[in-house]
Amino acid sequence: MTQTALITGASAGIGKQFAYELGILRGYNLILVARRLERLEAIKADIEEGYLIEKKKPPIIHLISADISKYKDRVYVTNEADRFQIDLLINNAGYGSVGQFTNSELDWEANMVIVNCIAPLHFCHHFLPKMRARSNGVIINVSSTISFQPFPFMATYGASKAFLRNFSLALSYENTGKVLVITHCPGPTESEFHIVAGLEHKLSYVPKMTAEQVVSQTLTAMDRGRRLVVNGRLNKLLALIATVIPPNLSARIVSLIMKKHA
Ligand SMILES: NC(=O)c1ccc[n+]([C@@H]2O[C@H](COP(=O)([O-])OP(=O)(O)OC[C@H]3O[C@@H](n4cnc5c(N)ncnc54)[C@H](OP(=O)(O)O)[C@@H]3O)[C@@H](O)[C@H]2O)c1
Repeated sequence: MTQTALITGASAGIGKQFAYELGILRGYNLILVARRLERLEAIKADIEEGYLIEKKKPPIIHLISADISKYKDRVYVTNEADRFQIDLLINNAGYGSVGQFTNSELDWEANMVIVNCIAPLHFCHHFLPKMRARSNGVIINVSSTISFQPFPFMATYGASKAFLRNFSLALSYENTGKVLVITHCPGPTESEFHIVAGLEHKLSYVPKMTAEQVVSQTLTAMDRGRRLVVNGRLNKLLALIATVIPPNLSARIVSLIMKKHA
């Protein structure tokens, strides 16, 4: 039977690539969620075009324009999605910001916690029981390598991703043998993230992976039943170092690097 994936933040970057790879290469039906509907419509048209050229029936692609920082929009997403059986949930939508916390806008920072933490929690709470009841399903929660240490000058973002990593790994062990919950930690990746976070012309020396590399590695890890995916060898090494050195020291090192960019 054709599998159905729900992807939040599917209008750009990593989420868009999940949509392409699952829709084109793996033939999933897709439920794509983001605020920018016109972006989602273009992605749907792209995926369908490939099938039509090959004279094959395209998968079902259902688009939901929603701001998942809002409770009523999240309920709208779950109501719409309940028309389908969700086999794969990808909690990917997220954003960050860089700078001194005291100079930030409160709404921007508080909404970040809602989008990066509360929305995945809400969607896991809604879809996980249904997957458990079937003993079948996969959830991918997109955290970040930033989650492995306190991150001065991206304080809220780093803490939000640490919440998601710990929450997701804990859920993974609560659901062993029933539902595969994958904690996905990309490192720096080409996307619109850096523009939204105000990092566009900063940290340009940091090597970035492509969204194609990140998504393909992650879906291969899903096929292998992995619970934790850190993309790329360098990112794996940095994540390992961050977990073995004292948090106070890693925060000091990050602070020295990030201060210049704040
Ligand atoms: N790029 C990196 O270097 C990197 C590294 C580690 C982790 N990550 C994580 O990877 C995930 C994807 O980020 P990306 O790099 O692909 O960034 P991106 O290109 O900026 O994409 C972010 C996606 O999230 C959606 N989104 C943001 N706020 C939303 C809201 N309130 N409601 C609904 N959708 C919302 C955006 O859609 P709309 O604007 O259309 O709503 C967009 O589709 C994020 O969780 C990010 O934290 C990224």
